[in-house]
Amino acid sequence: MDKPTMFEPYQAAPDIDVVPAYFPIPGLGIIPINAFVLKAAEPLLVDTGLVPLSDQFMEKLSSVSDPQDLRWLWLTHADQDHVGSLRRILQAAPRLRVITTFLGAGRMSLFQPLPMDRVYLLNPGQSISVGDRILTAIKPPSYDAAETTGFYDPKAAAFFCADCLGALMSEPEQNAADMGTANLREGLVKWATVDAPWLHTVNKRSFSKSLSRVRELSAKLILSAHLPVARDMTEELLGYLALVPTAEPFVGPDQQALEAMLRG
Ligand SMILES: [Fe+2]
Ligand SMILES: [Fe+2]
Repeated sequence: MDKPTMFEPYQAAPDIDVVPAYFPIPGLGIIPINAFVLKAAEPLLVDTGLVPLSDQFMEKLSSVSDPQDLRWLWLTHADQDHVGSLRRILQAAPRLRVITTFLGAGRMSLFQPLPMDRVYLLNPGQSISVGDRILTAIKPPSYDAAETTGFYDPKAAAFFCADCLGALMSEPEQNAADMGTANLREGLVKWATVDAPWLHTVNKRSFSKSLSRVRELSAKLILSAHLPVARDMTEELLGYLALVPTAEPFVGPDQQALEAMLRG
């Protein structure tokens, strides 16, 4: 794969669809970029994909849900791989409101201000009803943007964890379990060193507490923006994340390496 590519949507659960893309990172493999449709009584979209794939994103989204029916967009954070079709979603779904934080709305205002009457501010620990279930906002144990919030859906027993628990991969999969144990461990640890280098400086005890808070959710499904669907793998994934603080820090290619790559 030599360019970002949308893939066909697939089901994570009867009421949850994944709208996946893959993004190649030179020398590191590929990373999935997932949005999700939660078919709650008030349908909710989680994130809006990559900026350059917006046309394809809208098409794939429409194949699983009429965008007009969406009532909520959960914006995990305002990175470019999560806001790609935000403006089009706001236009397509006139009743939709964007669940974010004060910081999330603030970051959006730096490049694409959100209309404040379309925003719903929710802090970690606070909950919101989407008709047939109550979602609770959760700060994942690792993230790359200060405003990041994931959430727990008790009805699907699913933890939507934003960038946390993502993994670099060699080829697309729909099940994290199909990556194989060694590839999953290596890909997850490497991704976390790239995405959240501050993990190398955390206090071990506080980090372990934040992993325990995820464990206590008893989530059956881990739905990361950057991992295929993970079923009944919470303990395994948290075990890999626990390795990150003492893993080898990521250092990107320097100018000499870039020139060698360009010559190649
Ligand atoms: Fe991010
Ligand atoms: Fe991301």
